[in-house]
Order: sequence, then structure tokens, then C-alpha cells
Amino acid sequence: MCGIIGYVGPRPAIEVILPGLRRLEYRGYDSAGVAVLEGGELQYDRAPGRLSVLEGLLAGRPREGTVGVGHTRWATHGEPTEANAHPHLDCTGRFALVHNGIIENHAVLKDRLVREGHRFGSYTDTEVIVHLVESSYRGDLEAALRAALDEVEGSFAVAVLCRDEPDRIVAARRNSPLIVGLGDGAQYLASDVPAILPYTRKVLYLEEEEMATLTREGVALRRLDGTAVHRTPTTVDWDMEAAEKGGYPHFMLKEIHEQPEAVRATIGGKTDRSRLRRLFGGLGIEAETLQHVERVVVVACGTAWHAGLVGKCAIEDLAGIPTQCEIASEFRYGAPVLGRDTLVVAVTQSGETADTLAGVRRAREAGAPVLAVCNVLGSSVPRASEGVFYTHAGPEIGVASTKAYTTQLVAMTLLATYLGLQRGTLDRQRAGRVLRAVGGLPGALREALAADAMVQECARRFQDSRTFFYIGRRYNLPTAFEGALKIKEIAYLHAEGYGAGEMKHGPIALVDPGLTAVAVFSEGATHDKMRSNVEEIRARGGRVVAVAPADDAEAARVADFVLPVPRVDEVVSPVVNVVPLQLLAYHMAVLGGRDVDRPRNLAKSVTVE
Ligand code: AGP
Repeated sequence: MCGIIGYVGPRPAIEVILPGLRRLEYRGYDSAGVAVLEGGELQYDRAPGRLSVLEGLLAGRPREGTVGVGHTRWATHGEPTEANAHPHLDCTGRFALVHNGIIENHAVLKDRLVREGHRFGSYTDTEVIVHLVESSYRGDLEAALRAALDEVEGSFAVAVLCRDEPDRIVAARRNSPLIVGLGDGAQYLASDVPAILPYTRKVLYLEEEEMATLTREGVALRRLDGTAVHRTPTTVDWDMEAAEKGGYPHFMLKEIHEQPEAVRATIGGKTDRSRLRRLFGGLGIEAETLQHVERVVVVACGTAWHAGLVGKCAIEDLAGIPTQCEIASEFRYGAPVLGRDTLVVAVTQSGETADTLAGVRRAREAGAPVLAVCNVLGSSVPRASEGVFYTHAGPEIGVASTKAYTTQLVAMTLLATYLGLQRGTLDRQRAGRVLRAVGGLPGALREALAADAMVQECARRFQDSRTFFYIGRRYNLPTAFEGALKIKEIAYLHAEGYGAGEMKHGPIALVDPGLTAVAVFSEGATHDKMRSNVEEIRARGGRVVAVAPADDAEAARVADFVLPVPRVDEVVSPVVNVVPLQLLAYHMAVLGGRDVDRPRNLAKSVTVE
């Protein structure tokens, strides 16, 4: 889980690499490094800590080389130290290599290489690759990298420079993303599009088991078996504004406020039955396959898993199909019973989460049709799936997922409605009401966002709590899980998401004035039950913040503080109810002086196990 960038062209490579690394920091930020080819030598600089440390180092050591690679790291093997930062060099200083992924057989390879006389300078799994390149090199860098990668097991996106071939970068991928940007007399390499957007919009997505050789003149693509690949570049239509903060102090806040537009993009036009049929008819899975689905299994991690839990409620309610929602890291090692009549839905913002990708592969091997619900175009999960519903939320840079989540919720609701209509389990009136509720979400989200000042006040009043219990029922139990996850990951406050009805089976013993319960009220059958659960907490000295419609007098009566949300159909209520919880976590994090966009120990895309 790291970011890679490479440049070959007329400018000093550092001028492209450092800003590119800044835009890739969301992929990992515990150390960083660069290598450039300069005056027939490889020059490299590495520093533990944030990118600013490396920038400080380079300010005193100008590097002029016009071919180079850079790396921002999120440690998996080896502490975040200078020695373990990338790039890694071979024994002779002829090669410099950066890597994203995990080399699973690194220990065996290292033993052998040490016996052969190689000296290692780090505790990383990556370093074996550069020593393997050194061993295989016979004057052809591409052939040497191919031979090296033939020996490794695991995942990689790699880029390597060679002192003896100073006009090129050679790169390859397996199970880790890598893209090439095509310029005029300059070529770019990166883990993700924002890193190279200021320079080019012409992009080649490397597929599994492919390699690329970049020179000023152009890019040659091959398979790892050496066969040539010809591919037409894709033109990326994101503008740079979309990947920058747009006036907000943090990406997370900007992304929270982008939710009305993001959800509008997910819906993509009118919400009526014929459009729904067109939408799902073009996703890559036959309408007939979807019509005969007997069971749905949702596979996802973290926030995306919470979206899956809401999806389970919606699919069972609207389509009457038994649905289970699995944590991908468990699913991939379980013994799932799957077949052609089970639809597997993989929910993922990045499309690169290693466990979700492994779950998708597992499902495909078992013959199940897999539909990806994903934000990042051309990423690994959609490419490994049979069909894909893109959420079109736009780039999400904040580590804490916000607009990706609400757009996933919309996607799952539309899927449930479509399945219900296809199978005849959902009557037209109910379908019409759900679709109208979905269509009204951009407006409802704007209304929810308008209460930001109250949420800020709430954060001030409750920030001293020892612990938070987020409680919900039915559609809003996942909302409670998500609210608790948000406050944990960015404010570093202890929080648990819990079924409101489960409190009396144990956790109620924790209730005292140091505990704040954040109660997410749902419409319908569970509303009164929630009110009783809240009263039980208040009676024991706990404080209560309610998320409820502004006109919900019952919620206002039992709570110490109400975070108001618009009144919407229960099916779409998780979309609006999560907004004050995202804002609450955000304001608590700011009050606590936390690094909102880059919380400690976390990275945006978890591309390793
Ligand atoms: C949520 O705020 C987290 N960043 C995390 O739980 C995330 O949702 C999870 O890692 C899954 O990522 P994905 O959607 O890119 O697969």
C-alpha cells in the first residue's frame, strides 16, 4: 500500500515526482524516497516520516536528472526507517527499484540471495526484487525485470532504473495498480491518476501481468511473458480541481459537502423504472441471470461493508432475495457455498482492496456472477468482476470514506429496486416511492448539511465523553456502525456501534455520565423501541445525542441533544442520517487537533492483507 511515480522527459524529474508524491500520499505516508539518473550515476534520497521531511532534504541537495522514480510508503515488512524506505538499490548501485505490494516468498529468496553473496540493507520484502534484477541482468533491463518477477510470489507494482540504460524506466504489475501517462517528449508512471493529471490526460492502464518501458520517445507495453501489447490510451476527464480541496480546510470536509452532487452523479439522471432497466441492463451481467438469482452475497471491507449491510436490508425488503453481507477478509478464507444462482456483489471505493479482490476471485472461481459496485474506473475489482456499477463519486482523497459511502448506499438501493422489479416482488407503487425518495436525495443531503453549525456545537458539548455508543436498528444499525468507525478513525475516540436492542444484553453495564449514546432513530416499527432504549440509557446517567427528523418530538423529549435530519423514506434514511455523524467525527477530530485527512496508522486503499 504505497504510491509510485516515475518520470522520463526533458525536466528535472524531481519537479514532477515531488508534487506527484504529494497527491499520492493518501496511499501511505510513513516514509518517502526518490532516485534519479544523473551524470551516469544513480542518485537517491530517502527519509522516514511525512513527505515534507524528504522535501526538506532535497532542498539542500538539488537533483537535476531527468529520469527518475519516487515512492511514498505504508510499511508492511520493516519499520518505517530510512533504510526500509524505497527506492532500494542492489549491491553494485546499478539499479534502483520502487515497489507497491507484498512479496510473499521473500524470506526464501533472501536466504538464497544471501548465500549467493548479496548484501541486504533493509528489512523489507521488496529488496529481494532488486537483487534478483542484479543477478539476471545481461544488458537488457526489461529481460532482467521479467526474470526477477518470474521468481516472486505475491503482489507488485514495480518500477526500476538502471545506470547502464539511463534513458528509461521499466515497470510491471501484478495485483497492484499502475498507470502510464503519455506526454509530448515525456512519459509518466503512477499508482493513480491524480499524480499525473497536471501533465497529461492520456492514460494507459496496465493490466495484470503487464510491463511497460518508458522512454522520452514513447511507451512499449508487453505481457510479462514478453509478448507485445497494443492498447489505445484512455482520456481521463477529471479536472484537477476535483482532486484538490476547493477552499475547504480538509479533503474530508470537502467530500462531505460534495455528497449531494456525488449522489446525483450516481443516480445519473431520472429515477424511473425504464431508466433503471437501461442502467442495470448495461452493466455486463445478463438480465436473465439477475432475474434468476436465488441468493445475494455482499463482500466488502470497512465502510463499504456497512454499505453492504444496508444493501442486505434493501434487497431482502424490496426484492425478497435472501442476502448475507460478508467481511471480505473472512469470506476469502471461508468455505462459501456459491453457484451461478448466487449473485456476489463486491462493494469497494478504490477497487483495489486486497481482501475484496481476493473474495471476487474466489466467487468467480466458484462460478458465481460478480457485480462490482465501485468508484475508481478501471481498477482491479471491476476488472475481475463480470459486471460493474460505477458510483461516480469522483476522487475521494480523505482517508475517511464519506461520499464514497453515500453513493454506495444509493447504488445498493437502486440494485435492490431493480431486482425487485425484475422478479416481480416489488409492486410498481412501492418501486415508484423508493425511486422518488432516491431522486430526492441530493436535496435531502443539502438539508442535512445545513445543520453543520449545530453538529459543531454538539462536538464541543460532548467531546469530553469517555466512550461513545452509536446505536441503531434495522436500516440504521449500519449507520451506527459507520458513525462509530468515523469517530474512531479520525478523532481517535473510543466508540462502538451496537444494536440498540442489544444494549441490555451486556453493554448497558458501562453506562454512566462518561458514556454518550448517539442514537440513530429510524422511521417505522423500530421508532418507539429506540425511544425506550434511549430512556434506559438516560435512566442510568448516560448522555444521549439523537439523530432524528427536526419534528420528531419523541426523540427531542428523550435526548440531551438532537442532530436534525430531513424526514425521508426509511429505505434511503441511512444516506441522510450518516451526514451528521460524518460531521460530528470531523469536528471532534478538529477539536482534538487530529490530522483529519491522514489519520495515524491508516491508509486510503488497503492493497495488502
Ligand atoms: C473508511 O473510512 C475506511 N477508509 C475503510 O474502512 C474503507 O472503507 C475500507 O478500507 C474499504 O475500502 P474500499 O472501499 O476502497 O474497498
